[in-house]
Amino acid sequence: MKALSMNDVDLKNKHVVIRCDLNVPLKNGVIKGDKRIRAVLPTIRKALDNNCAVIVLSHLGRPTEGTFEEEFSLAPVAKRLGELLGKEVRFHAYDPELKVEAKNGEVVLLENVRFLVGEKKNNAELGAKFASLGDVYIMDAFGAAHRAHSSTESAIRQAKVAVAGPLMLAEMQAANKILQEPKRPLYAIVGGSKVSTKVTVLENLLGFVDGLIVAGGIANTFLLAEGYNVGKSLVEEDFVDQANALIKLAKSKNVDLPLATDVVVAKDMASGEGLRTCAINDIKADEAIFDMGEETCKNFAKILEKANTVVWNGPLGVFEQTPFDKGTRFIGNALANSKAYTLVCGGDSVTAVEQFGIQEKMGYLSTGGGAFLEVLEGKTLPSVAALADRA
Ligand code: 3PG
Repeated sequence: MKALSMNDVDLKNKHVVIRCDLNVPLKNGVIKGDKRIRAVLPTIRKALDNNCAVIVLSHLGRPTEGTFEEEFSLAPVAKRLGELLGKEVRFHAYDPELKVEAKNGEVVLLENVRFLVGEKKNNAELGAKFASLGDVYIMDAFGAAHRAHSSTESAIRQAKVAVAGPLMLAEMQAANKILQEPKRPLYAIVGGSKVSTKVTVLENLLGFVDGLIVAGGIANTFLLAEGYNVGKSLVEEDFVDQANALIKLAKSKNVDLPLATDVVVAKDMASGEGLRTCAINDIKADEAIFDMGEETCKNFAKILEKANTVVWNGPLGVFEQTPFDKGTRFIGNALANSKAYTLVCGGDSVTAVEQFGIQEKMGYLSTGGGAFLEVLEGKTLPSVAALADRA
């Protein structure tokens, strides 16, 4: 990635603005996962080591612009950030004027940038205000780098000096390991619930992977396209044609695209009523697929043994609920014990890997959801483009 880094500029005693992605899961003010906060600690510490005045920006959720809504406040994040840093983090409450002062050695977290009018429209005036808060603008919000917003694009273009933070650089380096110089064979595993959200990703992946495993709800639409009766499983009938086109594309490119041969079905997911494993040509009208069967797990694991690089996005079954976690767990463990470098992206797949306790055995866990998908779609992220122009 072409960008200046924090090492390329003089940070000593400067005022720095760090755009982070602290969009963490929150329920009634309680943080349910602090991965994204932990991921930017090295960036903030590096600025503090240089006696900087540190102004941190982030969004949280999708509030309405121009009004303050408690449920989207970053106040709980300021508290957690302070605990993790072992240092007070001053919270700068909702202030459309952005009259922010920070002293050297101090960390100030501003209220949710998405409360400010113009942020999502990439308003240049707002971008200039963000940029003017410091001498150096550090873009480290990889998870929001696919958004051309005032704090993720315009501010980078208008800052006196704009650099990529260490997290941003690590994420793009991991992405390039897949996109530019993968150790082949390269396999992609794409799961999750809906094929409609991943068609472009699948199309683009078929252009450069050696094999593609579709699983989870997505695979149901592929099974339907292949003529199987999938009962009352989650499917998108409008996307059967696209699934057929993707199967054809895979054949024309000589890309391996294996489908499940057996599945775990039930009549009801919550109660598990009628739970059984069956061949894919034996699914009854009142049954739905919630996981891959054992034979499929073994087949997929065998196929993945060949891989030297794997990119994994999306769970392979309803991993949040036993016994439907078995498929995701089986493949996760197979990858953990394989020689392949595995990059895991997408909130649910990362959560699954952590739930199974195999995160240390993965090559890289991305903090990006939509951002990583856009990278896999072959798009240049707006923040990446802006940083390159400022390098
Ligand atoms: C994410 O969680 O994927 C990022 O924080 C981006 O959030 P957004 O989809 O609301 O822009």
